[in-house]
Amino acid sequence: MHALATELNETLRGTIVDAMLSDVGRRMFFPKGIVAQSAEAGQKATRFNATIGMATSKGQPMYLTDIYNQFTPNAFKPSELFAYAPGGGDQQLRTKWKEQMVRKNPSLEGKLLSQPIVTSGLTHGLSMLAQLFAQEGDTLVIPDLAWDNYELIFAHQVNASIATFRLYTDEGGFNVAGLEETLRSIPDRKARILLNFPNNPTGYTPSKVEMASLASTLTKLAEEGMQLMVISDDAYYGLFFEEETATESLFAHLCDAHENIFAVKCDAATKEDMVWGFRIGFITYAGKSLTKAHFEALDKKTLGIIRSTVSNCDKPGQSLLLKAMTNGAHYEADKEAATVEMEKRYRILKEALKKHEGNDLLLPHPFNSGYFMAFKTKGSAETLRRHLLDAYQVGCINIADVTLRLAYCSVECDKIAELVDLVYQAAGEAWN
Ligand SMILES: Cc1ncc(COP(=O)(O)O)c(C=O)c1O
Repeated sequence: MHALATELNETLRGTIVDAMLSDVGRRMFFPKGIVAQSAEAGQKATRFNATIGMATSKGQPMYLTDIYNQFTPNAFKPSELFAYAPGGGDQQLRTKWKEQMVRKNPSLEGKLLSQPIVTSGLTHGLSMLAQLFAQEGDTLVIPDLAWDNYELIFAHQVNASIATFRLYTDEGGFNVAGLEETLRSIPDRKARILLNFPNNPTGYTPSKVEMASLASTLTKLAEEGMQLMVISDDAYYGLFFEEETATESLFAHLCDAHENIFAVKCDAATKEDMVWGFRIGFITYAGKSLTKAHFEALDKKTLGIIRSTVSNCDKPGQSLLLKAMTNGAHYEADKEAATVEMEKRYRILKEALKKHEGNDLLLPHPFNSGYFMAFKTKGSAETLRRHLLDAYQVGCINIADVTLRLAYCSVECDKIAELVDLVYQAAGEAWN
């Protein structure tokens, strides 16, 4: 074990983070190597800075004019586009993202949270959490309807076991009791939980009442001695279309709920700010027992994983996003307009589905938010998917041959009813 890792482990000793670290997480640290030394030189080396492998001239990185000239003159200094980003991301962007998070989740106000660390998209954040906090012998609890990448990351990459619970109750609400039962069945009284609201693939977010019950159930289990790491995947955060839906992240409910709960928020500009290809995500840590010193240690372990995988996250994307967030004339209005459009599509879709009520070939799972809705299929979802593609040139997603997901976020309002009719018609044909 490297001495710097031992030092970080000492700082974290006895905390809920310590209880969750994997072997990789325990070994991880941020070396005082090139990146740390050049960051130090950035502060003090005013005469010559000969630290970083970046070709510079007159204090700015060299660049291809064919790229630079595509930006409005003087909008960005070359360093804002072509230089490496600081480890952990642009400091201003991290601060802005945190301020926005608190604004959207008012109960975070005044709570001690880590500074969000920039990741190369939300998937990268989840992958790093898997490496730092999960390995063979650990259990990750997810709903039976969840993003398929969770399995690839946690089961196939780091060899953790996956335990599932039914997402919905028989009445179509969020199944708090099912989650509790699954958690209670884990023998070593320790679990990682990964929940995503609005959910992919079903487009469900718990109601305010369900969210409160979920938070209090997890806190009760923690009170009884169970150690929990609860990761909130907030990829589609903000796309809430019904009055009773919980609008604060589960992270906000758990950030200081109990010493035995390690709350982690993984979110991203990807969908929230509609920059899918930019690859900008964030990890934020919190926990009742955690102090600034613990966050610093966690930061260093996370920076170590970044350094040893992608080394550095996308710089131009961060600069563009920061500029939009800081003084963009349309930043809020454009986001609001997209949300309004998604809600319009949502309402048209709900209406279109009414026509097919009682048709037991395809049963829509309850949905109230996000980009998607999904059907429970009576026959093979893969057969239906193929039939829709071949006969009608309609593309949708089959999940485990029992679920068909429609990404209505990418279908114009005036086409949604036609899409729904085609899906039902195709189901009738495909399973005859
Ligand atoms: C639930 C969920 N989490 C994470 C992601 C990945 O986001 P990113 O593109 O930022 O890696 C997606 C994208 O499809 C998703 O559906």
